[in-house]
Amino acid sequence: MTDYKLLAQQIRALADGEPDYMPVLSNASALIMENMENLNWAGFYLMNQGSLLLGPFQGKVACIRILMGRGVCGTAAQKDETQLVKDVHEFPGHIACDAASSSELVVPVHAGGRVVAVLDLDSPLAGRFTQQDREGMELFVKTLEEVTTFEGLRLTQ
Ligand code: SME
Repeated sequence: MTDYKLLAQQIRALADGEPDYMPVLSNASALIMENMENLNWAGFYLMNQGSLLLGPFQGKVACIRILMGRGVCGTAAQKDETQLVKDVHEFPGHIACDAASSSELVVPVHAGGRVVAVLDLDSPLAGRFTQQDREGMELFVKTLEEVTTFEGLRLTQ
């Protein structure tokens, strides 16, 4: 079981003195991949001109742009709501970047009161993510929001 409090402390320490989103989110992806079992993808999509653009991640090559409301990521961003999907094959419109993915957890990331990114975790195991993982990742994202500056993003068209 991942120690989410420790994970949050680690990203806080990593962002100390250099809060720019690019290095922080890159290290956040690495930290998650190192500390969580059974993941095949961990990373971020960033709001860009009204849709989601691929950001820092660990895993196989992935879809570059996701429209709002599309797939699990676009749904999380549009609804501004965490999506915990036990079986992606049952999620209408799921975007299969890697055919191996079976379950997914997506948490919206905010700055200045709006969604600026989503954190996306994929697993080859069905039902990989629990309520505890959801709460742990929401704590992690809350910490990210506190320590990261999202300056320079081109959010709207
Ligand atoms: N499965 C996601 C797309 C992103 S990849 O999994 C990295 C979705 O349905 O939004």
